[in-house]
Amino acid sequence: MDQSRQPQRLFTALKMLGVSALLITCVLSVASGQNPNEAAKQKPKGPWMDKNSSPDKRADLVLEQMTLDEKITLVHGTEGAAAQLHSLGGAGYVPGIPRLGIPALQMTDGRSGVANIGSRGVYSTALPSALANAASWDVESSYEYGAQIGKEVRDLGFNVSLGGTANIIREPRNGRNFECLGEDPLLIGKMLGRELKGTQDQQVVGNINRYAVNDQETGRFIAGAIVDKRAMQETDLLAFEIAIQESDVGTVMCAYNRVNGAFACENPYLLTDVLKKAWDYKGWVMTDWGAAHSANASALAGLDQEMPSGRYFGNPLKAAVEKGDVPVSRLNEMVRRILRTEFALGIIDNPPVAHPVNPFTGAEVAQRVAERGMVLLKNDNGQLPLEVSGVKSIALIGAHADVGVLSGAGSDQVDAAGGSAVYGQGDQVWHRSSPSRALQARAPNAQVTFDPGTDPAAAAKLAGASEVAIVFVWQHTSEGRDVPNLSLPDLQDELVSQVAAANPHTIVVLENGGPVTMPWLDKVDAVLEAWYPGIRGGEALTRILFGDVNPSGKLPVSFPKSEADLPHSSVAGMLPGAPGKPPKEQKTPFDVNYTEGLKVGYKWFEAEGKEPLFPFGFGLSYTSFSYSSLEVTPGAQLRVSFRVGNTGSRAGAEVAQVYATLPSSAGEPFKRLIGWEKVSLAPGESQNVTLTVEPKYLSIFNVAKGAWELPSGEYQVYVGGSSRSTPLSQAVTMADPR
Ligand code: BGC
Repeated sequence: MDQSRQPQRLFTALKMLGVSALLITCVLSVASGQNPNEAAKQKPKGPWMDKNSSPDKRADLVLEQMTLDEKITLVHGTEGAAAQLHSLGGAGYVPGIPRLGIPALQMTDGRSGVANIGSRGVYSTALPSALANAASWDVESSYEYGAQIGKEVRDLGFNVSLGGTANIIREPRNGRNFECLGEDPLLIGKMLGRELKGTQDQQVVGNINRYAVNDQETGRFIAGAIVDKRAMQETDLLAFEIAIQESDVGTVMCAYNRVNGAFACENPYLLTDVLKKAWDYKGWVMTDWGAAHSANASALAGLDQEMPSGRYFGNPLKAAVEKGDVPVSRLNEMVRRILRTEFALGIIDNPPVAHPVNPFTGAEVAQRVAERGMVLLKNDNGQLPLEVSGVKSIALIGAHADVGVLSGAGSDQVDAAGGSAVYGQGDQVWHRSSPSRALQARAPNAQVTFDPGTDPAAAAKLAGASEVAIVFVWQHTSEGRDVPNLSLPDLQDELVSQVAAANPHTIVVLENGGPVTMPWLDKVDAVLEAWYPGIRGGEALTRILFGDVNPSGKLPVSFPKSEADLPHSSVAGMLPGAPGKPPKEQKTPFDVNYTEGLKVGYKWFEAEGKEPLFPFGFGLSYTSFSYSSLEVTPGAQLRVSFRVGNTGSRAGAEVAQVYATLPSSAGEPFKRLIGWEKVSLAPGESQNVTLTVEPKYLSIFNVAKGAWELPSGEYQVYVGGSSRSTPLSQAVTMADPR
């Protein structure tokens, strides 16, 4: 019998008996005398283990000791039986160098929790989606979100968390929008930066996913983004730059697509000129899974690690180094970056030790994040909040609201502990947080009756016989496929219309991955955007509906009235009826031309004179806010101060937003977000807010010079509660100090 296959067979046998993979791995490892954290436990005595030396020094010291084969081992993932024994079963595994005390890299996706580990018998907290987190506009909440992910990644024994993406929402039909943080580079950069800092503070290596311009899933392996350099710098890349700056994230994952002709993972402009040189990035660049296309070109372009295998960075890279086609100095740089990051983030000095995690350990964080990120889009006639003692009967309709809440699919799928609350719906996972149960518990004297919504007439009948109707609607989205359009699937628009016709007090709750159209909007009283709300979604939305929590989320992405108002009427390369798949004959690469350039999201609507359904930055509260006393002071850093007041009768939080337009010479006739602050205010209270603005946020990218510059002239500064509601404004003249 082939000895090398024994562990694999034992693994399979134990799995069939239902034993958790994490446990099996530990058992097999101990039995074979090897442990996933074995390298670290051996504690070699080399001078690189001196914690008082800098991470750079320590990396150099280890590097001096390494053979060519050892270096090659670190620059690519390993799969197959050998990996199976030592890997914890996450997305990727890179063996360590035990004799030098360098641990294996155990990688897992960690964007809204530790993803796709349920089949191994372990689970983690299902947090709300990244877009829901972004909708809070609360950077400290984002830190808490990232920290919860990092803590569970570490507790489960992983030391690399494949983290959030800074890709900007250019395509509202992108199936991965729920993993994104919106359509504005500053919002994305600041929110993601704090999230990744939170993750890395738990002593795991963080990651920023899919650099860059990875904005649709249709033809994901063959599509090529075309976007002009200035637009790319000021929007797409700026989001990554800010997030990296704020977090010092340890790894950047290059994307599948091409960017202006070259694959993102062999793109010297992106990887070397921008990331490593202009941004002075110190971590390492890994490929997305299977996104490498070459050894030499990728290595020379600045790629440091191929995942999840060594197709190009195994033997082919070794041969290229031996032949001198790739200088050994380049290989050393790859390895140095990896080692330096491992030392800097503590995974060598303090390696994680795997133990099962209670999947509800982060439930309170999940609930807080969900409550902060839900957005009240409409509330006519004071329909909300509901009064516990006032409401006698509630018709609860649709979206499996009797049992759970929806989540997004793909590599960011956090498995549902206890299984999906709904079976037989393809890859849909519904987390076991029942809105119906939560609502009934909050209003024990009300009669709460559920109707699945599959027959609109029956649902309308129930609605007509109830005091209030709450219709839950859903849109399932996933990695690997875009949505064909922005309409709710399964005739749900018809459902809402019929229910609203039967009951004048209709409230709609949305569980979705990104913008959707709402042809029934005028007919309903209230709309609450709940996103994919995580394991406490039902409880969070109940607290908002009953006013225990005053909603304070604001849209991180514009909602269009119709697809006709978008820059592109359909997703490039999408075959009608086959979401996600490029036309069959299209094996050859195709381009996605981002002709809107700088005009992403709200900038597009403003520049084109189009009215969105709901603008970027919009969100209602159960109280009202006033804005006054704007003062704008130019200087090395623009200073903006103003006063926000709570003019209503409930405590609440307002996301006070600051926008600017640049001098006309910039050629950007639309506002851009330059700062914000989320302010909590008691009824009647008011507060001064002062923000200083980085010159870069007021600058443009000069492609000829390859540099940022601040246009001289008159800027207009706007302050208010959304990109379209800015009651305060003031002009200010500035000149580039250079
Ligand atoms: C996804 C990445 C993910 C990787 C590892 C890829 O398919 O695009 O976001 O991190 O898989 O699971």
